[in-house]
Amino acid sequence: MRAAILREQGVPVKIEQVDLDGPEQGEVRVQLVGAGACHSDYHRISGHVDFGTVPYILGHEGSGIVKEVGPGVSTVAVGDHVIFSLTAQCGRCRNCHDGKANLCEFWVLGKATLPTGRRPFSQDGVELYADLATFAEETVVPETYLVKIREDIPLEKACLIGCGVMTGVGAVLNRAKVEAGSTVVIIGCGGVGMNVVQGAVLANAGKIIAVDKVQFKLDMAESVGATHFIDASKEDVVKRVMDLTNGGADYAFEVIGFPQTVRQAFDCIRPGGTCVMVGVPFKGQDIAVPGMKLFWDRTVMGTFYGAGRPKTDFPWMLDLYQDGRLKLDELATKVRPIEEFNEAFDDMNAGTAIRTVFTF
Ligand code: APR
Ligand code: ZN
Repeated sequence: MRAAILREQGVPVKIEQVDLDGPEQGEVRVQLVGAGACHSDYHRISGHVDFGTVPYILGHEGSGIVKEVGPGVSTVAVGDHVIFSLTAQCGRCRNCHDGKANLCEFWVLGKATLPTGRRPFSQDGVELYADLATFAEETVVPETYLVKIREDIPLEKACLIGCGVMTGVGAVLNRAKVEAGSTVVIIGCGGVGMNVVQGAVLANAGKIIAVDKVQFKLDMAESVGATHFIDASKEDVVKRVMDLTNGGADYAFEVIGFPQTVRQAFDCIRPGGTCVMVGVPFKGQDIAVPGMKLFWDRTVMGTFYGAGRPKTDFPWMLDLYQDGRLKLDELATKVRPIEEFNEAFDDMNAGTAIRTVFTF
């Protein structure tokens, strides 16, 4: 069975043969159908985030079909179509009870083992690190990471819900709770930012101002509903936003991961406005804002996974897709076999793809 293994940060990833053991108690074996290439994967590949656990099987955005269930599994069955959630949504912890499944206390993603400490992937008898491991033909995860979905939606499209759509749309609707008519700025219109634009459309925002350095991204933002456009490579972003909003936006979302662009987002909001950091900050970096501006009722807000409650949110998002009100086809700009792994990240860095979906 093939999987994309990161052996060393900064070194091209290879597709290798691996073995997979399980499912055991409470675990499920899923055959992957689609898996999206997210910038968070690239943060690991490039070394932008601390990452000592190699050799590691990459991938966290994915969809597939349940192949086998372990003892005690009750929420999914063989043949079910599922999307992977980034968080466990155990349903029993304080945060799950409080409607904050994105902060599930059972969540162990990033530890590179199953919650039991087990490592189901190996190669020649040597254990490999992995979390959801969606860049593999098959994977084994606890059932709490899976959301069963309707079966009339192509899984190569549905996979995008698992990270990019949940993070972006959720940041607007679940976390910031943008009110109708608000002016919204989105700095960084990639795979996640495009979904912040979509969230703003769903929230009935007024002006939706897309900011990127790449014209193709701005064109794509227009196709999903942005109303105004700023090319950050040519224009003074804050000045243009001030002009367009008559003194500052109600909301500005940073969807890249740089302290400078978080600061830029903060500088785009009016007194009483909210700056939402969606991008993952690089390791060890602080976010600084001028105290006097903050004093005037401005808010700086973090958001992890769009305050997502996957079992609640994935189904309505897919319903909206089927109704034509949430776009997925436009986001999946390329479909590639998993063998073309490194090319997909080259596209990401060249700015020529919104999301590449790997197939197996
Ligand atoms: N100003 C404006 N846009 C910029 C700038 C800048 N200074 N620098 C980069 N961009 C744009 C890129 O052109 C690209 O369109 O930001 C976008 C980033 O998009 P992707 O590379 O597709 O990344 P994405 O998968 O959307 O993730 C964005 O969110 O979930 C996190 O880890 C993820 O931190 C990452 C962020
Ligand atoms: Zn992601």
